[in-house]
Amino acid sequence: MFYFRPPNQIENQNQIENQNQNQIRNQNQIQNQIQNQIQNQIEIQNQNQNQIENINENQIENQIENQIENQNQNQNQNQNQNQNQIQIENQIENINENQNLKIQISLEMQNKAKSKINNKWKSEQLNIPEINKKIYKFTNNFNTFKNTNSESDLNPGIYEGGFKIWECSIDLLKELSLKEEELKDTRILEAGCGHGFPGIFCLLSGASKVTFQDYNKDVLEKLTIYNVLLNQEINEINLLDRSEFISGDWSGVSDLLNPELKEDMKYDYIICSEVLYQSANYPRFYHLISSLLKNSGTVIIASKSYYFGVGGSTLEFKRFVTKKNQMFIQTLKVLKDGISNVREILILKWKN
Ligand SMILES: C[S@@+](CC[C@H](N)C(=O)[O-])C[C@H]1O[C@@H](n2cnc3c(N)ncnc32)[C@H](O)[C@@H]1O
Repeated sequence: MFYFRPPNQIENQNQIENQNQNQIRNQNQIQNQIQNQIQNQIEIQNQNQNQIENINENQIENQIENQIENQNQNQNQNQNQNQNQIQIENQIENINENQNLKIQISLEMQNKAKSKINNKWKSEQLNIPEINKKIYKFTNNFNTFKNTNSESDLNPGIYEGGFKIWECSIDLLKELSLKEEELKDTRILEAGCGHGFPGIFCLLSGASKVTFQDYNKDVLEKLTIYNVLLNQEINEINLLDRSEFISGDWSGVSDLLNPELKEDMKYDYIICSEVLYQSANYPRFYHLISSLLKNSGTVIIASKSYYFGVGGSTLEFKRFVTKKNQMFIQTLKVLKDGISNVREILILKWKN
C-alpha cells in the first residue's frame, strides 16, 4: 500500500529541516564566538599576569638597586667619617707629640747653624734705641721656614703665632732693659717665646738660665734656637750653655721640668708677650706660672689691653687671677701711641 504525502507536506518538512540546519549552524557559530571570546579573555589574563610579574620584578630590581646604592653611599660616608676621624686623631697625636719636649741641640746642629749664619743668612740689629744691647735677627727667616705652616698669624691648637714678631715683644724688651741689673744671675722662663728676643736680652744681661718655651716645636727648632746661635756668634758670648728649649702646651711644662720642682729650680722671672689673646687658655697659663714661679719671683707680661676678634683682654685675665686669690696682679704701665692698640705691662707676684 502506498501512502501518499501531499506535496505541501513534503515542502514543509524540507523547510523545517532547512530551518533546523540553519539553527544548528547558527548555534555552532555562537559556540565558536564564545570559545573565541574565552580564548581572548584567557590571553588577556595571561598578558595581565605577565605584566604584573614584570612590574613586580622591575620594582624589586629597582628596590635592590636603590638599596645597593644606599649601602654604597653609607659605606662612602662611613669611609669619609673614618678618614676624618683618622685625620683628627693624627692631628691630636701630632699636638700630643709636640707637647712638652725638651729639645736637644747636638754639636752637628750647632755646626750647621754656624755655617748657615756665616754663609747664607743675612742678619740685622733690632732697631730699638731704648735697648742698650745688640740683639740681632735674621732678615731672610721666612724663606727658611717655607715648609712650615707660618702663613697665617694663628691657627689655635695647631700653630700659635710663634713665627711672627708681635708688637708687645718690643714693649717687653724695653721693660727688661730698665731692669737689666736685676736680671743678673737669675733663672728666667720666657713663655710663648716665638723669636725669643726678650729671653736673648736676659741671656746677654747675665741671666744664669733662660728656658725658652713655645707651643710649636718647629718654632723653637727653626727659629728660636737659630736666633740664640746668631746672637751668640755676633756677641761672642756663649749663650747656648745657659739656654733650654721646651715645646708644648703650658699645662704640661711643669711636669716635664720636674713634678716636684725644688724652690731654687723655679724661676725668678717668668716673662711673656702677647699670650693673653684667648681667655680659654687662662687656666693652663695660670697653672704654668703658679707652678713654676719662685716665692720671691715676678711675672712680667706685655699684652694688648684687648684682642679684637679673639676676645682675650688684660681686664679678663686680671679678674681670673684675682678670683684665685693667690697672686697680686697690677698694670705697671699703659702704653698708648695713638697709632696701634692700647697695650699694657702687667706684673704678678705671690701674695704671701
Ligand atoms: C702671639 S704669639 C707671641 C709670640 C711672641 N711672644 C711675640 O710676642 O712675638 C703667642 C705665643 O703663645 C704661645 N702659646 C699660645 N698658646 C699656648 C699654649 N696653650 N701652650 C703653650 N704656648 C702657647 C705660643 O707659643 C706663641 O708663640
